[in-house]
Amino acid sequence: MALFQRKENRTAGQVDMSRLPRHIAIIMDGNGRWAKQRGLPRTAGHKVGAETFRRIATYCKDLGVEYLTVYAFSTENWKRPMEEVSTIMGLLKQYMLEAIDSMERDQIRLRFLGDLSAISPELQALVDRTNAISEHIHGFQANVCLNYGGRDEILHAARECAAAGEEITEENFSRHLYSAGIPDPELIIRPSGEVRLSNFLLWQCAYSEFYFCDTLWPDFDERELDKAIIAYQKRDRRFGGVK
Ligand code: IPE
Ligand code: IPE
Ligand code: MG
Repeated sequence: MALFQRKENRTAGQVDMSRLPRHIAIIMDGNGRWAKQRGLPRTAGHKVGAETFRRIATYCKDLGVEYLTVYAFSTENWKRPMEEVSTIMGLLKQYMLEAIDSMERDQIRLRFLGDLSAISPELQALVDRTNAISEHIHGFQANVCLNYGGRDEILHAARECAAAGEEITEENFSRHLYSAGIPDPELIIRPSGEVRLSNFLLWQCAYSEFYFCDTLWPDFDERELDKAIIAYQKRDRRFGGVK
């Protein structure tokens, strides 16, 4: 009985499957610190972090979440040492190559959000290939933010809207965002203890619920995601109105 009670306290409730967020966004942060704590190079943290992404994407799909958006590489992350940047790009390449083989079988649509003109032609070609496969897949969609910045996205949309001579309305503007057609995330999660957005989804987060936890991304697991969803389900979302 005592054991049972301890377990109940730890799990602190269950996910209500009838009220899942349609769209969860995650800032995959803490890879470097995870590696440092183990005396490993930062790049080792990125490798484990990439595995965590695969695992959490599968879990979101199995739960019935429709969209998972992850922050993989920001417009500011180019400031990092060249070796670290090339390791991250290499991991993305590896992920895309695997996805090309498995996404149809796993029924996972893949989309890349960000200024992709700055990534290597090799990665751009892989993005094109995953996009072509995604056209035939209906259902769960993973969005990977790559060379993504919220400010860059807003400027890009503003420029496109102006060039098209369109009236600047929320609707027209949203159609020029990298995230066009994707509903705004109901829940944004940042692990690793940092409490900031770091230029993530600045337009889309207007009414998102935020969840911060101390776990470093390579240690983030299904149970951590459950905790975030349970916390989200306890929030009172008023959207500026009264109840
Ligand atoms: C997140 O982990 C991955 C990227 C930003 C690409 P970090 O590399 O930022 O890890 P910390 O924050 O230094 O621990
Ligand atoms: C945000 O994390 C970007 C990604 C997770 C890809 P950072 O580690 O780059 O953000 P800061 O530097 O802590 O704000
Ligand atoms: Mg970080």
